[in-house]
Amino acid sequence: MRRAACPGSFDPVTNGHLDIIERASALFDEVVVAVGVNKSKSRLFTPEERISMLEEACAGLPNVRIASFDGLLTDFCKAEDVVAIVKGLRAVSDFDYELQMAQMNSSLADIETVFVPTSPEWSFLASSLVKEVATFGGDVSSLVPPLVLERLTVRLAERRSEV
Ligand code: PNS
Repeated sequence: MRRAACPGSFDPVTNGHLDIIERASALFDEVVVAVGVNKSKSRLFTPEERISMLEEACAGLPNVRIASFDGLLTDFCKAEDVVAIVKGLRAVSDFDYELQMAQMNSSLADIETVFVPTSPEWSFLASSLVKEVATFGGDVSSLVPPLVLERLTVRLAERRSEV
């Protein structure tokens, strides 16, 4: 059994993430989507909400499961018997930081990082931009699954009513 991890914050999951997860699921026997729950970062969605959206969005992929992790990704990979970390690369600008992380992770544990080029249709996509555009009323319906759009709309309305 060759198991890979697709790590990220997924705040929230986008069509770009799903493209990488789906393609990783065709390459490995099992893919664990590893949701980082580092408490020092402020997020729009709680870890439970991010996991629940991923579970729904990945329901059609039988060899994909969702898990959360706190702390080092390499510790999670060791505990889960993961042989490879799969990361999407959108552009050259992603490469510097991703290479640095891949090399740090391989110095910490015997784990490869596999880079998958993002499909061109999602090369500009980032959760942070989706949130910013949606906050100012832009249409993000083609960038996230319908279930995410629904929850994003509700959460942003809640945030607006709080201020
Ligand atoms: O979606 P993001 O925010 O780019 O995800 C980043 C994530 C969670 C994959 C990355 O920050 C991470 O691996 N965090 C865990 C802490 C860790 O292992 N740090 C050392 C990385 S070399």
